Amino acid sequence: MRTRMVAGNWKMNKNLQEGVALATELKEAVKNPNCAVVIGTPFIHLATVAELLKGSAIKVAAENCADHEKGAYTGEVSAEMVKSTGAEYVILGHSERRQYYAESYEMLAEKTRLALANGLKVIFCIGEVKEEREAGKQNEVVKAQLEGSVFGLSAEEWKNITLAYEPVWAIGTGLTATPAQAQEIHAYIRGLVAEKYGKAAADDTTILYGGSCNEKNAAELFACPDIDGGLIGGAALVAEKFLAIIAAR
Ligand code: PGA
Repeated sequence: MRTRMVAGNWKMNKNLQEGVALATELKEAVKNPNCAVVIGTPFIHLATVAELLKGSAIKVAAENCADHEKGAYTGEVSAEMVKSTGAEYVILGHSERRQYYAESYEMLAEKTRLALANGLKVIFCIGEVKEEREAGKQNEVVKAQLEGSVFGLSAEEWKNITLAYEPVWAIGTGLTATPAQAQEIHAYIRGLVAEKYGKAAADDTTILYGGSCNEKNAAELFACPDIDGGLIGGAALVAEKFLAIIAAR
């Protein structure tokens, strides 16, 4: 039985004090969730928030990590450093990183390898842009993203991968994929995992939906058989909304 999950991605929002306030509010409210709950915070918040949430039902994720192990890479944060904060996850391959920071398939393969080697679990994001969806190319795009960065992992490594399908045209736009659109591509993605790692591994792979998922549409999306939860941006910044999404899972 695969893990169901609701993960928040704060992106570059909330200063440390605001982040601590939100994490505190969530900690008090999330006692016995019926799914895994993860919050992705800026690097600078990780150690404080991980300490605050220690022993709670909420796990912490970084939103990125470096594609090098260590050394002269000014301003970068390694997977080992992330792990040392108490964070358990890292979000990799987010479309904003691919788009604004030119993260290539190879770079993401290396980040994933380093994250896993340092004991982190990876939430790996894939998804097509609007033009690709309009051209009917979404399946080939997600396939290339998986093959280019994560399908080189061993079966053992794969156990620590959670996928997040996030159509880029739905992120932060209020334009959610319909449950039928999301289910269709989630099933396709699970099929690709089955071809690569076998049916049992595919059945155990958690595949999240992300892109304007909110407290109003979450239940409908989560009711789809291949949608195991959500990766939530904007709605994860407001405790009330994020809690409602957790309750919908
Ligand atoms: P959104 O972002 O929920 O604000 O659309 C989702 C994401 O980018 O992970």
